Amino acid sequence: MTKPTDPILDWLDFFRDVGVTDLSAASQEQVPAPPALPGQPKPATLSLSAIRADLGDCRRCKLHPTRTNIVFGVGPENAELVFVGEGPGENEDLKGEPFVGRAGELLTKMIVAMGYKRQEVYIANVVKCRPPGNRDPEPDEIAACRPFLERQLDAIRPKVIVALGAFAAQLITGSTDRISLLRGRFHEFRGIKVMPTFHPSYLLQSPSKKKEAWSDLQQVMKLLGKPTPRRD
Ligand code: URA
Repeated sequence: MTKPTDPILDWLDFFRDVGVTDLSAASQEQVPAPPALPGQPKPATLSLSAIRADLGDCRRCKLHPTRTNIVFGVGPENAELVFVGEGPGENEDLKGEPFVGRAGELLTKMIVAMGYKRQEVYIANVVKCRPPGNRDPEPDEIAACRPFLERQLDAIRPKVIVALGAFAAQLITGSTDRISLLRGRFHEFRGIKVMPTFHPSYLLQSPSKKKEAWSDLQQVMKLLGKPTPRRD
């Protein structure tokens, strides 16, 4: 279970981890308005609640017998920023909410460090049911769940999607490249900017990679017109 967190401490914590010591820039830097996103006609979409209703008590893949809850996604329908992870773990399966375990605590710190509250962004996963023992999701499971994630992204049409880890990055960009090759630059999903970066679980194992993740998130912040604190 996630312990209650103080957003200010989370913010400072994440900055310390990525080596930011001068936070004055966070409030002072003048950031130019983000460039307009390419004008794409909005495809006919369903609301998130209609997509959830269509998902129902899903039995479309072999993950359904072992799940406790379907983890559909959380956040506002008009979020400008969406995070997509891999799939629910034990805590998420029990609670029915994405990223509520240790990786979720780190994701929340990353969101707060970017200048958002967790409740202001939308969070979803490639697969909506927990793979047993937290194994990787398999191709048939990803294929069964994919239309629902795509419809969620079509419904929200955020300004940016942050794809967390290889499964989300490869699914959303359509590339088979490794995450280390995909991260660090914008891709597109149906006219929406996509920034792949390292998964929070990987960052917990390899904290030295947080600096690269932070530089990816700073590119996202720039695009969204958020102030980006300098590193010394
Ligand atoms: N890891 C994920 O990819 N998603 C979650 O919801 C939790 C952990």
